Amino acid sequence: MTQLPPINSLDLNRFKRIVFFTGAGISAESGIPTYRGKGGFWTHYNYEDYACQRAFDRDPEKVWDFHEERRRFVSECRPALGHRIIAEIQRHKPETRVITQNIDGMHQKAESVDVFELHGSLWRVRCPREDTREEIFDIPLKSRHCRCGAYLRPDIVWFEDPLDDAILKVSISAVLKCDLLITVGTSATVFPAAEIPLLALQRGVTSIEINLEPTEISRFYTYTMIGSAGKNLQSLLGQSSFPILHQD
Ligand code: OAD
Repeated sequence: MTQLPPINSLDLNRFKRIVFFTGAGISAESGIPTYRGKGGFWTHYNYEDYACQRAFDRDPEKVWDFHEERRRFVSECRPALGHRIIAEIQRHKPETRVITQNIDGMHQKAESVDVFELHGSLWRVRCPREDTREEIFDIPLKSRHCRCGAYLRPDIVWFEDPLDDAILKVSISAVLKCDLLITVGTSATVFPAAEIPLLALQRGVTSIEINLEPTEISRFYTYTMIGSAGKNLQSLLGQSSFPILHQD
């Protein structure tokens, strides 16, 4: 049996195609609440009132008020250390991909590129009649209606919505090609998103899970780092042989 090198000797610069798979825990350090657990979003709000097509069909103004408030809140948040470190690693290794379940746009704000947003974005709207999408940062929106007259809706994958095929495809392709998977801050309980890292785990590639607590799938990872997203990513970066080290 081969001996695993200790996590504190892992050099990220040795890997060619790194995939980060992120969830609400990374943005918790930007001040954005997670969904589950203490203080979690879904402990205060019932998704059936705010985050499904049925709720929108019943009362689009109520659902929009909720999302406008989330847009306003998130617009005042800044990328956390974890988002910034991932963007920095991407600058060193342009083949790095970021697959996120988050809708807050924090990875992009930290200047990450090639961010695959599995659950859509708070910053995009969609016209269901014309099947068009547009990125809009106005708060509040100038109009909740498309030029065609239909209600725009947030371009978010709500409960019971399917994932976007194209995003799913590029995400699967990235995990099937990666040689290192780093999962950060997700409870790994929401499917089908939670199946995506499993594809890399099944291939036996080197994998690291960073989370405040163990998850149902922690045992499948090569390494688990229990604790804060930012601090753990910082130590991984600090021990790696990138030419310019991150300065915080
Ligand atoms: P969850 O709220 O389910 O899980 C967040 C995870 O992050 C938990 O396991 C926490 O322990 C961990 N965590 C919290 N703070 C952390 C920190 N500072 N550092 C590291 N880990 C931390 O969020 P997700 O797994 O992202 O869907 O939820 C998945 C999906 O469920 C979301 O994308 C959302 C939700 O319904 C949509 O909005 C469509």
